[in-house]
Amino acid sequence: MPVFPDPHPSGAVAPKIPSQFVPRHVAVVMDGNGRWANQRGLPRNEGHKAGEHSLVDVVAGAIEMGIPYVSAYAFSTENWRRSIDEVSFIMRFVTEVLTRQLDTLQSWGVRVLWSGRKPKLWKSVIRQLEYCQEQTKNNTVCTLVMCVNYGGRAEIADAAQALAQDAAAGVVKPQSVNEKMLARYLYHPEVPDVDLFLRSSGELRTSNFLLWQSAYAELVFLDVLWPDVDRLVLWDAVEQYARRDRRYGGAVDQVAGR
Ligand code: IPE
Ligand code: IPE
Ligand code: MG
Repeated sequence: MPVFPDPHPSGAVAPKIPSQFVPRHVAVVMDGNGRWANQRGLPRNEGHKAGEHSLVDVVAGAIEMGIPYVSAYAFSTENWRRSIDEVSFIMRFVTEVLTRQLDTLQSWGVRVLWSGRKPKLWKSVIRQLEYCQEQTKNNTVCTLVMCVNYGGRAEIADAAQALAQDAAAGVVKPQSVNEKMLARYLYHPEVPDVDLFLRSSGELRTSNFLLWQSAYAELVFLDVLWPDVDRLVLWDAVEQYARRDRRYGGAVDQVAGR
């Protein structure tokens, strides 16, 4: 039986929000680690270390709110542009975090999934991600999608390639290709579209995260650096989300009597 996460140290409890206004899928761009560290006179990698707690606390907060899917952007297909030193640190660090946190995630009933590209990614990281996936595959409380060597365009291009191969093999008719069919070739077609897209650190861009799945996501940009994020920040963002009017392109008159 899964256990409930310990409450936030402040004793705060999750806001009561009607279930139809609770996002099913929250995507999180965990940004601002380097600046957090440099502001303290520390090297960037210290910021990554400080961000581990934020991720675990946000997952705890998601469980407390009944959010079934959280995607965490840990390393993008563009992050290979960083120094060898930082890339190597992040590769080792992702493996260590997964090793350190697996028991906790398991006890909470979290299912871990990996989303991303294999080429270039360190074998040790792939091994640990696949191990966590296997170990947690029967958990049902919350799904944590770890996006490592992930890029939104890469995912769409990979889907297009797989679809083209099936078309060439005669499994798929080119004229029957549509949005629904392409979506079935994404890394995890069973994961619903993103409802709430969160980015910390004040940057106002998506940086290639979940482009397809976020087509109608509500965007919330936080002026907080990732190591300073915790479940209270998530809950505040969800309250903002719950007040948004999601129209999906539709429109109705708001004038009485019409
Ligand atoms: C996000 O923090 C973590 C990763 C991209 C791996 P950054 O490392 O981008 O921190 P800033 O944006 O430079 O402050
Ligand atoms: C996005 O942050 C990637 C992750 C958080 C893993 P970046 O810091 O890499 O994005 P840019 O460079 O500011 O767009
Ligand atoms: Mg950044």
